[in-house]
Amino acid sequence: MNNKFHIHTFGCQMNVHDSEKIAGILSESGYGQTDSFRDADVIVLNTCSIRQKAEQKFYSELGRLKTIKKNNPDLKIAVAGCIAQQQGDAIFKKFPYVDFIFGPDNIDSLQTWIKGTTMQTSLKYNPGYHTKTLPVKRIGRVRAWVSIIYGCDNFCAYCVVPYTRGRERSRPCKDIYDEVVSLTEQGFKEITLLGQNVNSYGKNLPEKIDFSDLLRMIHEIKGLQRIRFVTSHPRDISEKLINTMRDLPKICNHIHLPIQSGSDKILASMNRGYSYRDYKNKIDMLKAAIPDIAVTTDIITGFPGETDEDFRLTVNALSEIEYDGIFAFKYSERPDTKALTLPDHIDETTKSERLSHILKLQEVITFKKNMKMEGQELEILVEGVSETDNENLTGRTLTNKIVNFSGDPNDVGNILMIKVKEARQHSLYGEKV
Ligand code: 5AD
Ligand code: SF4
Repeated sequence: MNNKFHIHTFGCQMNVHDSEKIAGILSESGYGQTDSFRDADVIVLNTCSIRQKAEQKFYSELGRLKTIKKNNPDLKIAVAGCIAQQQGDAIFKKFPYVDFIFGPDNIDSLQTWIKGTTMQTSLKYNPGYHTKTLPVKRIGRVRAWVSIIYGCDNFCAYCVVPYTRGRERSRPCKDIYDEVVSLTEQGFKEITLLGQNVNSYGKNLPEKIDFSDLLRMIHEIKGLQRIRFVTSHPRDISEKLINTMRDLPKICNHIHLPIQSGSDKILASMNRGYSYRDYKNKIDMLKAAIPDIAVTTDIITGFPGETDEDFRLTVNALSEIEYDGIFAFKYSERPDTKALTLPDHIDETTKSERLSHILKLQEVITFKKNMKMEGQELEILVEGVSETDNENLTGRTLTNKIVNFSGDPNDVGNILMIKVKEARQHSLYGEKV
């Protein structure tokens, strides 16, 4: 019998990449991957606790697994990720049919568990985790994620991540370098360096290296065509990094720089460590150095204490900066976080109204920006078949815009020039030049 595993991933790119490591370990242990719950001998739910909504989705999914386990008592269910770390044993009380709970820093424990042990949880501090290179079963074959820094030390008042992913630790640069070399040898063309705050890379390492130095090192690797990174903290964007981005051609002209709010009062109570002016200065420096850089951001609406005036400042920031795209969320109460204790929580209706106001405003800005690209000839890396229209191929510009076009599937993995024919709300349509 060929054993099979199924993974359901909730949440961010960090979790998607962790699931690639989970799949890597299970594949190495002789398991095959299946898309279906019902065919699986092992199901892993890789959870997210960033907002209540993500958490609810996981709990309803786990509830549905009860009957599947009843019909197949040999099925093993494992819960991974941020909820696993935060809730730990408490999950067994409500869901006794769960077999194993492991946190984002204990993915390596799956190697032991899958061989058959009585171990039920693996959630403890795992000091050497960031120096381990785990097997990875990658989703694509053109773009790959590479972890460079784990955890977060920023303690933004709303955020659960420092409690689920622990203190900041950088991966040794040699391990990162070797992984990127091996990826390019396998034919990958683009890598995205991953971390909660990539700009603080190197702080805890014995060697004197920072994020810009790491970029320079990786840039030398032959066969690698494009480098991206997420996420950057605005406070830690340095002139050195901006110059490095400007000078190294493989670094894509895009930065994701979460602003969260345009109000200095709210930024201070969020513990973000910058004012709107500081933030705007960094954007101006980036745009001066790299004129066609695309900037995207994250916004939270209805953080405790956010008045109409504070919200107006966020709207102003969006109008002034004109982002290429945003991710906006209603503030969501998270256990253990500082924001829970703040006064003047905002009602759901106001949060929702503010969110939809922002999303509408941004739609207009995004579309206007996409329209400006009509007629331009742009370099794209072809990633595969379009998700929305499988007659077409899809690729991304250096500025991270999705371009669909009709072309030859043999071009997947190639860099092509495309002329933009039509701007759409969330993508561009083009033709091969
Ligand atoms: N409520 C709403 N949004 C949140 N984010 C993080 N924590 C919360 C929360 N408690 C958002 C931030 C962050 C993005 C990944 O998720 O905007 O940048
Ligand atoms: Fe990612 Fe944060 Fe969600 Fe964890 S809580 S999966 S780190 S977004």
